[in-house]
Amino acid sequence: MNNLKTLIKDKKAKVAIVGLGYVGLPLAIALTEKGFHVSGLDIQKNKVDSINSGKSYIEDVPSSTLKKALDNKKLTASTDKKIFRNVDIIIICVPSPLDKYKQPDISYIRQTAKDIGRFIKKGQLVILESTTYPGTTREVILPQLEKSGLKVGKDFYLAFSPERIDPGNKKYTVENIPKAVGGITDHCSELTALFYQSFINKVITLSSPEAAEMTKLLENIFRVVNISMINELALLCGKMGIDIWEVIEAAKTKPFGFMPFYPSPKIGGHCIAQDPFYLSWKAKEHNFYARFIELAAQINEQMPHYVVTKVIWALNQDKKSVKGAKILIWGVSYKKNVGDTRESAAHDIIWDLERKGARVNYFDPYVKEFIPFEKTAFDKKFSPPKHKSIRYRPDVLKEYDCVLILTDHSNANYDTIAQNAKVVVDTRNAIKNRKYKNVVWL
Ligand SMILES: NC(=O)c1ccc[n+]([C@@H]2O[C@H](COP(=O)([O-])OP(=O)(O)OC[C@H]3O[C@@H](n4cnc5c(N)ncnc54)[C@H](O)[C@@H]3O)[C@@H](O)[C@H]2O)c1
Repeated sequence: MNNLKTLIKDKKAKVAIVGLGYVGLPLAIALTEKGFHVSGLDIQKNKVDSINSGKSYIEDVPSSTLKKALDNKKLTASTDKKIFRNVDIIIICVPSPLDKYKQPDISYIRQTAKDIGRFIKKGQLVILESTTYPGTTREVILPQLEKSGLKVGKDFYLAFSPERIDPGNKKYTVENIPKAVGGITDHCSELTALFYQSFINKVITLSSPEAAEMTKLLENIFRVVNISMINELALLCGKMGIDIWEVIEAAKTKPFGFMPFYPSPKIGGHCIAQDPFYLSWKAKEHNFYARFIELAAQINEQMPHYVVTKVIWALNQDKKSVKGAKILIWGVSYKKNVGDTRESAAHDIIWDLERKGARVNYFDPYVKEFIPFEKTAFDKKFSPPKHKSIRYRPDVLKEYDCVLILTDHSNANYDTIAQNAKVVVDTRNAIKNRKYKNVVWL
């Protein structure tokens, strides 16, 4: 343990990061910038090749920054698990999705634990960062590592530390987002905290991995419940003829006891809408039904349908049917200024509009190609074609019967859209001015 402490303090500890995606790659870069040597591991060879040739595929990591880490010989990427033999610390950042029944799919975590278990050696620290249900570190990872015959807290160390990164957020990055840690033993917590303190401003040590796992879920459930609540109010305001966006702006002026959340065409992304199901699944083991989570999901799931209804209504005002209408989707990523389309509303909405006979194009500066994917569509025979982002010029807007804003990427002039499009459905309040008669807001 003392040896690893010294290596961490001297920034000489060698770190392996498993999973070089939205979480793993920025983390790898943050570590190299503090002087650590990082070996990245991914099962996708194209990602590994891209990193080794200095081409970043994550918006928050400029290729120039990646090249610097390579030039300084601080970063290497590989698909070879043998790298575990040559490192002191292993951080797991693999996906934790849901299966089609919305149950946790921990196969990536389990496989990684098995891989590490084959190579683990005395003195290593293993940290799980993937979001998951309370108990995963102890119940899934630990047994795989102890199969080696080594003992946790004595021969090797194991902890959970949730990743809280917010892709696209320039203000809060790896370095200044406080890090919560919870180790299996006190020594595990101590080493993990020491490690993160060496490159992150603030570290909070919890009593167990379970408390740390639950902390991440609390954060995401807090968001999903509040966003769904505001989405429900948006539906009601729609019926009552009240502008929900105006109401939120006013409520926001209360200096205490209120935090603004905004309506959206769906809560997309890999985390907020997915992770809470990890808890509702685990809760059932305790004969407990997590009702807020299920209710929030129900409201969230109906939002794309509501948006399509708004489009139909807007076209109707213009005496047009959705069948045959030309519709431009503005933004297909799940949130602004990123290219991540996982679980984005565009999947459900494009699928639905095309099934109804609309001719759909999209524009997204962050997403060159997009294949709408609707898991539960009853019409399995219908498969939407692969779409490519159009080249945007304001005059192309006139070619469409409706422009549907699903993602409010920055650096766009939304007044220009309102001025040039025949009809706009704005699900993000991107168009602030209410003077436009051709705009319908969510
Ligand atoms: N994206 C976010 O904003 C965010 C924020 C906080 C937490 N998280 C959590 O972090 C975890 C990772 O998310 P992400 O967005 O980085 O996912 P990602 O899909 O962008 O990256 C995960 C990477 O892991 C690789 N991988 C899968 N199995 C592997 C294996 N056995 N060995 C090596 N590599 C493997 C994949 O090829 C992929 O490149 C998830 O649990 C997620 O919930 C994500």
